Amino acid sequence: VTAVRFDLALLGVGHVARTFLQQLVRHRARLQSEYGIEARVVAAATRRRGVAIDPNGIDPGRLLSGAFGAPYSDGVRFIAEAADAVPSSVREGRFVLVETSLLTIADGGPAVDHVRAALMAGAHVITANKGPAAFAYRELAELAARAGRRFLFEAAVMDGIPIFNLARETLPAVTVNGFRGVVNSTTNYMLTDMERGRTFDEALADMQRLGIAEADPSLDVDGWDAAAKAAALANVLLDARITPHDVDRRGIRDISTDDLRAAIADGQRVRLIASARRVGDRAVVRVSPDRIAERDLLARLDGMQNALVLQTDILGDLAIAELSAGLGQTGYALVSDLVAVARSIRGGRR
Ligand SMILES: NC(=O)c1ccc[n+]([C@@H]2O[C@H](COP(=O)([O-])OP(=O)(O)OC[C@H]3O[C@@H](n4cnc5c(N)ncnc54)[C@H](OP(=O)(O)O)[C@@H]3O)[C@@H](O)[C@H]2O)c1
Repeated sequence: VTAVRFDLALLGVGHVARTFLQQLVRHRARLQSEYGIEARVVAAATRRRGVAIDPNGIDPGRLLSGAFGAPYSDGVRFIAEAADAVPSSVREGRFVLVETSLLTIADGGPAVDHVRAALMAGAHVITANKGPAAFAYRELAELAARAGRRFLFEAAVMDGIPIFNLARETLPAVTVNGFRGVVNSTTNYMLTDMERGRTFDEALADMQRLGIAEADPSLDVDGWDAAAKAAALANVLLDARITPHDVDRRGIRDISTDDLRAAIADGQRVRLIASARRVGDRAVVRVSPDRIAERDLLARLDGMQNALVLQTDILGDLAIAELSAGLGQTGYALVSDLVAVARSIRGGRR
């Protein structure tokens, strides 16, 4: 296969970006032999560590710790400076922004600005951040199409499980009319751990220790993370044109161990369910801790497991489950997005 040599700019170098880098190293030989992919990091930035830009490639060791040198002012400026440093790579469509900043639930920013700026500067964008697809999917997808670049976010929902790729690449002529699922690992872990008698705080602390909980845990326990994922799914699968603020949302803060045990005594389980269905030309999207029958697929998810059931016209209901969740899977999702970019470059897809 012909080689594609990617120049990557990392905006955010936290848990997810590091696992992405580890996965790139671990799978280097296969990525090169099967997809012709070579990748190096030419720019990296975080608010606290500052900015590093080197068109000859940044030493991987330097990415892992320490200050980067130049101070960070804002992401849009960083993207412009990084693009300026590698003009031929931008021109040839080999420049990729890897966006892993944190979700701002008020308006999805600044990640939405980062994605917009990168596409306008000629970069492809792969992001683990839910904000762009949850708040501005239609605008950014159209911008990417006009720019002849990809805007991909497989890592944003269900980590490495290919939900957006599944819908995009494998379901020709299928209409998705709705979905229901468990899409937040932290709250599913907490609910199933509390069923076994542990406290809310103990279970949440486990998820924070593993780097699975959001930096601000109220995003998980109040249902915002699930609402952002539900909005992203509804925008992509149902053309919903909504934001997380349009989702009818309830979290798990009020759920007690007694509630969970009472449900079990009735042959039920409590799970934080994200769902959407078409009603006329709009989508009704909800997140709530529902009681569901214990034979329900979603009731049988344990710990960090996730699953999503798509309701379709041709195939009826189909489900995809993430039975082994973790950060490695999230890093892999970004790798899979990079492979999708390489494929579209090779396929001349615009
Ligand atoms: N962890 C998971 O399991 C998981 C799974 C799927 C998706 N995600 C999503 O992936 C993203 C990254 O998660 P993470 O676990 O890697 O978080 P993290 O460990 O806190 O890392 C976030 C990185 O982004 C930087 N950053 C945050 N806000 C920024 C901003 N406004 N401008 C510039 N840099 C910024 C941080 O640096 P400073 O602190 O120096 O700003 C840090 O380097 C989040 O959007 C998250 O929702 C996470």
